[in-house]
Amino acid sequence: MTSPLILVNLKTYREGTGNRAHMIAQAAQLVAQDSGVTIGIAPGYIDLHPLCHHFSIPVYAQHVDGCEPGANTGHITVDAIKTAGAAGSLINHSERRLTLAEIEASVRGLQAHKLISVICSNNETTSAGAAALVPDYVAIEPPELIGSGVSVSKANPEIIRKSVAAVHAVSPKVKVLTGAGIQTGECVKIAVDLGTDGVLLASSVVKSKEPAAVLRDLVSKL
Ligand code: G3P
Repeated sequence: MTSPLILVNLKTYREGTGNRAHMIAQAAQLVAQDSGVTIGIAPGYIDLHPLCHHFSIPVYAQHVDGCEPGANTGHITVDAIKTAGAAGSLINHSERRLTLAEIEASVRGLQAHKLISVICSNNETTSAGAAALVPDYVAIEPPELIGSGVSVSKANPEIIRKSVAAVHAVSPKVKVLTGAGIQTGECVKIAVDLGTDGVLLASSVVKSKEPAAVLRDLVSKL
């Protein structure tokens, strides 16, 4: 059985940028090595290449465009994140929504470069729609719980259960993550017991004074 994925999105938090991004990546790498659980990190673009260079954990972009390299200004190509060493990318995060056509272009670009695609969704209907594009992962995150400190696993387990069923009804091979307010090993265990393949989270790790301790707790019940 493959390990669940704990994917830590550093967003644009000051506490997840520069030296702090390195410190969190270092903690994630140590906890991943000690626990055997896969822990990935999604830093801002400025930190993407240095983290890929210095650490062996999977590093994801927070967004990627589907356009080809060339005359595009202010876009992030799949080619660029692959060259930087990324393992894959989030797509359509709640804080970076895209059109359906743009989501498909990003997924196809990632697939063409053999990188991992994680489409974010907000409910079971959009999770099913995302699954129709056959990414590696669909990550269901109820927007109202993001950054709230209230865990989706405890506040709305039903949306996790329904999203897992909706995704697998469309494409059984697509894996499911869930996120929003995930803070503890108990939240992660509930999510995995409900059929997900891991969690996507941010503030509980990024804003902590001791990210390593939070990460250790997150993997403690797997
Ligand atoms: O990308 C993860 C995120 O949207 C959830 O954020 O702070 O609720 O863990 P948070």
